[in-house]
Amino acid sequence: MKPVGKVLCATGIIAGVLVFFWKDSFNPESLSGARVLLTGASAGIGEQMAYHYARFGAEIVLTARREAVLQKVVEKCLTLGAKKIFYIPADMSSPSEPEKVVQFAVQKLGGLDYVVLNHIGMTRFQMWDGDVEYTRWLMQVNFFSYVALTTAALPILERDKGSLVVVSSLIGKIPTPFTTSYSATKFALDGFFSSLRHELVMQKRNISITLCILGLIDTDTALENIRGKVLHLTASPASEAALAIISGSATQVQEVFYPWWLQHVCYLWVLFPCNRDQVLRSYYNYSSL
Ligand SMILES: NC(=O)c1ccc[n+]([C@@H]2O[C@H](COP(=O)([O-])OP(=O)(O)OC[C@H]3O[C@@H](n4cnc5c(N)ncnc54)[C@H](OP(=O)(O)O)[C@@H]3O)[C@@H](O)[C@H]2O)c1
Ligand SMILES: *[C@@H]1O[C@H](CO)[C@@H](O)[C@H](O)[C@H]1NC(C)=O
Ligand SMILES: *[C@@H]1O[C@H](CO)[C@@H](O)[C@H](O)[C@H]1NC(C)=O
Repeated sequence: MKPVGKVLCATGIIAGVLVFFWKDSFNPESLSGARVLLTGASAGIGEQMAYHYARFGAEIVLTARREAVLQKVVEKCLTLGAKKIFYIPADMSSPSEPEKVVQFAVQKLGGLDYVVLNHIGMTRFQMWDGDVEYTRWLMQVNFFSYVALTTAALPILERDKGSLVVVSSLIGKIPTPFTTSYSATKFALDGFFSSLRHELVMQKRNISITLCILGLIDTDTALENIRGKVLHLTASPASEAALAIISGSATQVQEVFYPWWLQHVCYLWVLFPCNRDQVLRSYYNYSSL
């Protein structure tokens, strides 16, 4: 076997063992009665997370913009077994909303064990068109609101030994075409929250931060965005992605990769800088431009 093959093989085995033990150490019962604030909960992966937390018997506050849709998710969560559930409609492009949402959750639940930051603003999957205002807006929704929600929640998370969960993307580790603004907001999350994680450890503040690196997931918005533009990629199920986020953060993993092999994609990306950009671009449909 070539040395590269050996290295790949070894990392594969190590990762397999790690994945096995991570899964093994997740105890769903630990989430019974857990107090969870979940953003972007009206659709996609956030909606699926709401259902999992409900099944595990958590106490949940959901937020997103659309009240009628949130109500439907709440109803389903109740049938699945949520101990307590509330919702608050909020638009995260407005700088005053994050603090309101955290106050609402703390008032309703009496504390917080998990703050799961998952929402994103409308993503344009297209070439950079020079719209700086859009980028500013997306930064507000995808990044600054995460910072503000975290700032408001940190004292309570510290008191309750809670966890912060930040949903990001492979595009927050590896830049791809058609995602200039989105990619920037996800890289910003990695920078901010990985730096904050150091500081919390240095200050011996017991708050774990889990950054979630997701690949293509079969949500309506994602599939609609990439249709005809990205080739040879299969989307993974949102429900499984949601469970990977929940179990990874319950066991206080620093970075969750879903699908699990994305971790190797990230290693390979760093290890083999020569042809990586050309390989990456081969996944895109040039005639769709
Ligand atoms: N799907 C993928 O392929 C994929 C891949 C990698 C990473 N991710 C990450 O996974 C997370 C969830 O993605 P998803 O595909 O599930 O997204 P989605 O289906 O589009 O859902 C987005 C959620 O955010 C809410 N939202 C949108 N604009 C908002 C605003 N201005 N203020 C507050 N909430 C807002 C939406 O509800 P309302 O419309 O009711 O506000 C909805 O609940 C995101 O962080 C995304 O970056 C997804
Ligand atoms: C931090 O809190 C977790 C529970 O979330 C606990 O298992 C761990 O022992 C605590 N660590 C310290 C250093 O207090
Ligand atoms: C690539 O884009 C073109 C133009 O939009 C489209 O007609 C074609 O079907 C796309 N190819 C694939 C494989 O999706």
